[in-house]
Amino acid sequence: MVSRQTIEAAKEHFGTVLEQQLERVERLKAEDDWLNYSEISPIKVGMIGGDGIGPYIAAESQRVLEFLLKDQVASGKVAFRTIEGLTIENRAERMKSIPDDVLAEIRDCHVTLKGPTHTPERGDGWPNLESANVSMRKELDLFANVRPVRIPSQGIDWTFFRENTEDMYAVGSQGINVTEDLGIDFRVITSQGSERIIDAAFAHAHRTGKDTVTVVTKANIVKTTDGKFLDIARKVSEKYPNITWEGWYIDIMTAALINPARQKQFQVLVLPNLYGDILTDEAAQIQGGVGTAGSANLRKRYGKFEAIHGSAPRMVREGRSQYADPSSMMRAGAMLLTHIGFEDQGNKLHKALDICGQYERKIAITGRDTGCTGKEFGDYLMETIEDSKLESRWDEYVQG
Ligand code: IPM
Ligand code: MG
Repeated sequence: MVSRQTIEAAKEHFGTVLEQQLERVERLKAEDDWLNYSEISPIKVGMIGGDGIGPYIAAESQRVLEFLLKDQVASGKVAFRTIEGLTIENRAERMKSIPDDVLAEIRDCHVTLKGPTHTPERGDGWPNLESANVSMRKELDLFANVRPVRIPSQGIDWTFFRENTEDMYAVGSQGINVTEDLGIDFRVITSQGSERIIDAAFAHAHRTGKDTVTVVTKANIVKTTDGKFLDIARKVSEKYPNITWEGWYIDIMTAALINPARQKQFQVLVLPNLYGDILTDEAAQIQGGVGTAGSANLRKRYGKFEAIHGSAPRMVREGRSQYADPSSMMRAGAMLLTHIGFEDQGNKLHKALDICGQYERKIAITGRDTGCTGKEFGDYLMETIEDSKLESRWDEYVQG
């Protein structure tokens, strides 16, 4: 028999979780609106090198972004900042996932472009710090994880809006073992949290001329929380009469993504955190692997853009850092440009990355001295961007 006390202790714990989440809902209600970058000057862009190969690919990315924003930097509309100290060495020395002074500098920027940061794991010699990315999502409430996957020659152009703060992640380490045999975790979905991500997805579709939003849940089984997510989707969709939306279940969605007959029909997809975590890895693999994708982590008044691969400490140990591939970080850079209002420059960078990395490949990165360096690749990109035939070259390659 389970004692009354055991059950009371579990209820008490559950009560604490509820109190914390209800407080969170109040904070969400008080949230500001999106920044209007056309009214901001200078837009402060923080460059965070990270560790391992991070500083190398960050330097190349910054060179290309500054090239694209030459005029804006000269006129003072955009200012680049370098944020040091988000390295595993400094984080370990300070025993903080994000040292306070680094966090303050990050908060002082409007957007950041971040290199990879090492996440300690048991036995690697580093203290067991929380992943810097996960800490940043929490500290900065980066609720929208935007992950595009593009294969132009196959007509694939997907943008995933993964909710980044709720679902199984919200209180993922506050589950309880009620008894030795009964473990319970808590899944959190709020109206406010759902609305802001779903609205971001519809707004993106609206802005980029897409006509469909796909909402992915398992609402037939997880009726309360996924049911709420769907209800909110229905409500938000009323604001966007020109966009049709459809609900899909996550299981059949994983099948549809690899079905060539279906792939072209998806455009913008929005989904709760854990489904989004899983589905975006699958999607990235279709494009060539998680190392090929850039991503954005947004809140309304702040944005962090990053590659989603790791910091490759082995490349550094073997003295190959200069051969590291900066493409994913530059993809994230292209997203950053679009986000802060420089859509032309963002599109040019995307197209140059398609040409140089996927189609023409005049020189190629192999990660070692059998290929070109990140710097040579950066030069190749800039030449391609400057070419007056960029658009027609891109059409030619993509259409085969
Ligand atoms: C991701 C990763 C993270 C997540 C890990 C590293 C905690 O898989 O960004 O998708 O689960 O969100
Ligand atoms: Mg993941």
